[in-house]
Amino acid sequence: MHSLALFLVSLLIASFDALASNSGPSNNKICSLTASGSDDAPAFLRAIQDTSCSTVLIPATTILDIKTRMNMTGVSDKHIIVQGTVRFNPDLAYWTETGNAFSFSFQDQVAFWLLGGKNIIMDGGGTLDGAGQAWYDAFAKNSSLARPIILTLFQATNITIQNLRMINSPEWVNFVNEGQDITFRNITISAVSTSKNAAKNTDGWDIFRSDNVVIDSSVVNNGDDCVSFKPNATNILVSNLACNGSHGISVGSLGQYPGEFDIVQNVTAINITMSNAQNGARIKAWAGKGVGSGIVKNITFSGFVESNVDNPVIIDQCYMTDADECAEFPSNTLIQDIWFDNISGTSSGKEKAVVASLSCSPDGRCSDVNVNNLNLTAPSKYGAASFSCQNVQLSGNAASAFGKCKNTG
Ligand SMILES: *[C@@H]1O[C@H](CO)[C@@H](O)[C@H](O)[C@H]1NC(C)=O
Ligand SMILES: *[C@@H]1O[C@H](CO)[C@@H](O)[C@H](O)[C@H]1NC(C)=O
Ligand SMILES: *[C@@H]1O[C@H](CO)[C@@H](O)[C@H](O)[C@H]1NC(C)=O
Ligand SMILES: *[C@@H]1O[C@H](CO)[C@@H](O)[C@H](O)[C@H]1NC(C)=O
Ligand SMILES: *[C@@H]1O[C@H](CO)[C@@H](O)[C@H](O)[C@H]1NC(C)=O
Ligand SMILES: *[C@@H]1O[C@H](CO)[C@@H](O)[C@H](O)[C@H]1NC(C)=O
Ligand SMILES: *[C@@H]1O[C@H](CO)[C@@H](O)[C@H](O)[C@H]1NC(C)=O
Ligand SMILES: *[C@@H]1O[C@H](CO)[C@@H](O)[C@H](O)[C@H]1NC(C)=O
Ligand SMILES: *[C@@H]1O[C@H](CO)[C@@H](O)[C@H](O)[C@H]1NC(C)=O
Ligand SMILES: *[C@@H]1O[C@H](CO)[C@@H](O)[C@H](O)[C@H]1NC(C)=O
Ligand SMILES: *[C@@H]1O[C@H](CO)[C@@H](O)[C@H](O)[C@H]1NC(C)=O
Repeated sequence: MHSLALFLVSLLIASFDALASNSGPSNNKICSLTASGSDDAPAFLRAIQDTSCSTVLIPATTILDIKTRMNMTGVSDKHIIVQGTVRFNPDLAYWTETGNAFSFSFQDQVAFWLLGGKNIIMDGGGTLDGAGQAWYDAFAKNSSLARPIILTLFQATNITIQNLRMINSPEWVNFVNEGQDITFRNITISAVSTSKNAAKNTDGWDIFRSDNVVIDSSVVNNGDDCVSFKPNATNILVSNLACNGSHGISVGSLGQYPGEFDIVQNVTAINITMSNAQNGARIKAWAGKGVGSGIVKNITFSGFVESNVDNPVIIDQCYMTDADECAEFPSNTLIQDIWFDNISGTSSGKEKAVVASLSCSPDGRCSDVNVNNLNLTAPSKYGAASFSCQNVQLSGNAASAFGKCKNTG
């Protein structure tokens, strides 16, 4: 009690000092936000841009109504405590008008909010709410509707995002774009539609042109990739996730755009529970005429426990390309030093008895692919599990389960 009181007194003094001297970023002023009844974006933005506010607090009782875009790039040394809710008003007419949401040429993504700069912590136990239902319903009628991402870390360094819920994103939940030294921990993601229209493309995380990213101890319930490693995602650790209803932990798709070179290197995904999903551990790369190139190197998928997953283990290096075209134009995105270790569970039976499919392009485009301790079964009505492979030489103690790989070259 005594030390708590002392702590509170010292906080008050610090905050009083900061107010009195107005002495720049090295102080401890806490700037608390309240709901205004109209658009709360300008006040949130002002508090973040005010260098005298080292901490920006959204108290538990506050629901900020965000009606206009927030450019919080170039911020430094900031602690954002979200105890309440930041809710993005689903005014589709506003957000889809050109110039309102932020736009990225990469996969035509758009965003409500950019957060960037350095040394930022965002936590607090509160909620980021994408109010996605109106978006899910409108997208069902208009498949070119540009739906915003909730949280985009843009040109961000040394950022920790933790202890938050992120709900009902209209599209991707987290986009890490041109960042480094970024950690997400204890994030609970849920994107669930209450109508017949699914919550589509609600990837948990997409990592693009970013280095040294950790995603740990989080729960994801969504309708697309749990985590996706896009071009130039390097040195990534994804650990202790429970993913439900997703499209899996996915490398790619890569090598899609002609003239571009995509790198995904040094990725470990470990201790993953994957349930009711389209894929478990996945790598996909384009082949065919007029696509791009790249390299996928040193990727480890380890300690996956899967249930009701269509493709528990999958490499597709002829992504979106039929067999004949893939034979004529094999993928120029090479796949090297890949480890599928300690993966257990059952498939959904969508691929009948097949529980693992490692399909490379012909002509030696995959090398050093290792499979160890795969304990995968298909639903019993399909009989013994079947493991398939194409155009690849497998190593490891589970290689024999695959038998001789098909050669299409
Ligand atoms: C965001 O703000 C920064 C200044 O901090 C500016 O340089 C940048 O152009 C803005 N971005 C957009 C997309 O408006
Ligand atoms: C990273 O940010 C944290 C919190 O904002 C800060 O304490 C730490 O010193 C920063 N690290 C570096 C290397 O700047
Ligand atoms: C569909 O969405 C796109 C992109 O947001 C927009 O330009 C277009 O006008 C919409 N179409 C209809 C019929 O609403
Ligand atoms: C995880 O975050 C939730 C809020 O989403 C919080 O209630 C809980 O205490 C956090 N857990 C840990 C271990 O910090
Ligand atoms: C998990 O996903 C399935 C399929 O999308 C869904 O039916 C189920 O409600 C989800 N479970 C939880 C706990 O959210
Ligand atoms: C990825 O990084 C490589 C090497 O730095 C670069 O040549 C390439 O253009 C980058 N690709 C993308 C999509 O940023
Ligand atoms: C492979 O990637 C892991 C991180 O996922 C890294 O620790 C390790 O050093 C890398 N190995 C090589 C040979 O690059
Ligand atoms: C991958 O990790 C190895 C070993 O730590 C390192 O030498 C290499 O530079 C890393 N590759 C990339 C693209 O960061
Ligand atoms: C993975 O789980 C094992 C067993 O629970 C644990 O010992 C290990 O620390 C975990 N690995 C990571 C990177 O969290
Ligand atoms: C295999 O994965 C399970 C589930 O994540 C974990 O409990 C176990 O420790 C792992 N074993 C090894 C040898 O990595
Ligand atoms: C394989 O998984 C099943 C459950 O799916 C488990 O009962 C069995 O012990 C596992 N076998 C090995 C060798 O880990």
